[in-house]
Amino acid sequence: MKALVLAGGTGSRLRPLTHTSAKQLVPVANKPVLFYAIESLVAAGITDIGIVTGDTAAEIRAAVGDGSAFGARVSYLPQGRPLGLAHAVLIAREWLDDDDFVMYLGDNFIVGGIGELVDAFRALRPDAGILLTKVADPSAFGVAELDSSGRVVNLEEKPAEPRGDLALVGVYLFSPAVHEAVRAISPSARGELEITDAIQWLVDHGRSVRPTVISGYWKDTGNVTDMLEVNRSVLEGIEPAALGTVDDASELVGRVRVEPGARVVRSRIVGPAVIGRDSTVTDAYIGPSTSVERDCVITGSEVEFSIVLGGSRIEHAGRIEGSLIGRDVEVTGARRAPRAHRLVLGDHSRVRISG
Ligand code: G1P
Repeated sequence: MKALVLAGGTGSRLRPLTHTSAKQLVPVANKPVLFYAIESLVAAGITDIGIVTGDTAAEIRAAVGDGSAFGARVSYLPQGRPLGLAHAVLIAREWLDDDDFVMYLGDNFIVGGIGELVDAFRALRPDAGILLTKVADPSAFGVAELDSSGRVVNLEEKPAEPRGDLALVGVYLFSPAVHEAVRAISPSARGELEITDAIQWLVDHGRSVRPTVISGYWKDTGNVTDMLEVNRSVLEGIEPAALGTVDDASELVGRVRVEPGARVVRSRIVGPAVIGRDSTVTDAYIGPSTSVERDCVITGSEVEFSIVLGGSRIEHAGRIEGSLIGRDVEVTGARRAPRAHRLVLGDHSRVRISG
């Protein structure tokens, strides 16, 4: 069995984080969301992985390499234009050969991995296995309708009026039957070959499509609260370790991971939290459910339930909570009068000022 991992697309929804970088590299607990996908494929015994790339191919390649760091063998399959998920299957036809495969959308995060699903697919050999989960905003997804006996009857991509709340999760299992389906369908209203339509084609042609309803799913639809929440749940499982330096005047409480080269000086860190490589935390408090990426400087401030991306500085900024701070951002306190808020914010930034 092979895996086709989709890492193209533009990430237009991923505001404010990824105007500049691939959406699949958005970090969860300091690790790109794409890495969790690759790791869970390898854990399920799938090591032959084809990554479909688009405009951000260079960045994806730089991050993943040849896959050996994951125990996988990675091939890259460039998709000239983002013409849809079913189009990605079309262009991968030769690489996929006549193997069964998992198609994994690289911006999806599945808590608990896919081992059981892959095992069930191998045992039952349906033509397709789909994953469904209840979501609050089904119109942002493909939506599946099941009949009273749990069979898939209808699938619709981003319906204005969804028939139910079961969204298609971005992990699909396919037998080679899908190749006929992706050749048979036509582009949707948004001009893409939709995998949702290909699966509907399989249903309409009497092929077996096996649904599994899961919980513990996340995809960044631009919702900061959800992103902080998935970060929190992953941090709860991190291995505590002080790999950097922590001085005697500092205190680490609970699950705290201080990565190599990081320095903690006269600070209190209450886990679960991770302080990335070469970051420095001085005279600060880092509270639970916080990820600080590499090369950050946090001085004289309190940061809790937040994500701080690489290269950012937070200095004398008071208390920051429930925040998502991008790369190379500076947040500094106004220590002299006038104590005004002075803001230089990128497009789609959101700020809530207190006091
Ligand atoms: C795609 C699929 C959609 C699915 C979603 C899951 O949407 O078309 O059916 O629910 O992935 O991530 P897209 O991310 O292309 O908008």
